[in-house]
Amino acid sequence: MDRNELKKRSAQAALAFVEDGMTVGVGTGSTVAFFIDGLAGLRGRIEGAVSSSEQSTARLRAHGIAVFDLNAVGPLQLYVDGADECDPRNCLIKGGGGALTREKIIAQASERFVCIIDDAKQVPVLGRFPLPVEVIPMARSAVAREIQRMGGRPVWREGVVTDNGNAILDIHGLRIDDPIATERDYNQIPGVVTVGLFARRPADVVIVDGVRRA
Ligand code: A5P
Repeated sequence: MDRNELKKRSAQAALAFVEDGMTVGVGTGSTVAFFIDGLAGLRGRIEGAVSSSEQSTARLRAHGIAVFDLNAVGPLQLYVDGADECDPRNCLIKGGGGALTREKIIAQASERFVCIIDDAKQVPVLGRFPLPVEVIPMARSAVAREIQRMGGRPVWREGVVTDNGNAILDIHGLRIDDPIATERDYNQIPGVVTVGLFARRPADVVIVDGVRRA
């Protein structure tokens, strides 16, 4: 079956987690786009959404779904987002679409994080997908040198500016055996805004090809 169809199945399965009156945290990416389209069918039953990117905000608004500032709504019950890689402990690499910082903020502010993926994103060990890191523009080269010193191969995603006005480095050549330690170590480099490892706050539920993973 084509990958988009599998992503769509996962997105549709996540709709079962949406309850009446909720304000739903919404991630970013092609899988989430299917979720947003499905959410449109529940529009009259939910309060609205908190969005992780300008891209998702535009799609939500196009469907007539109200988008709220996280500060205005406080903790959320549910966050639904995709991922670039997912390991057996529900730790994730995210940020392929560059929205990792807002995604991590909303994931952290949510009681339940439902991750929607297709099977190609399941890996035994994270790191085959280059690890995105959002950096303050003036620190880009300094952070890249520090990442090299730590053993990674950073590549500047040239031309990309995040919704927060920052740059992205993608770290190649990693094998992430201890995701919590790796997340902590990269987070501590001055100039790093967010590392796209979601290990300290992993997903609570993972839906693969439309089926909840045991
Ligand atoms: C966005 O920054 C990412 O974290 C996405 O969640 C991730 O890239 C998944 O995207 P797709 O659903 O498009 O594969």
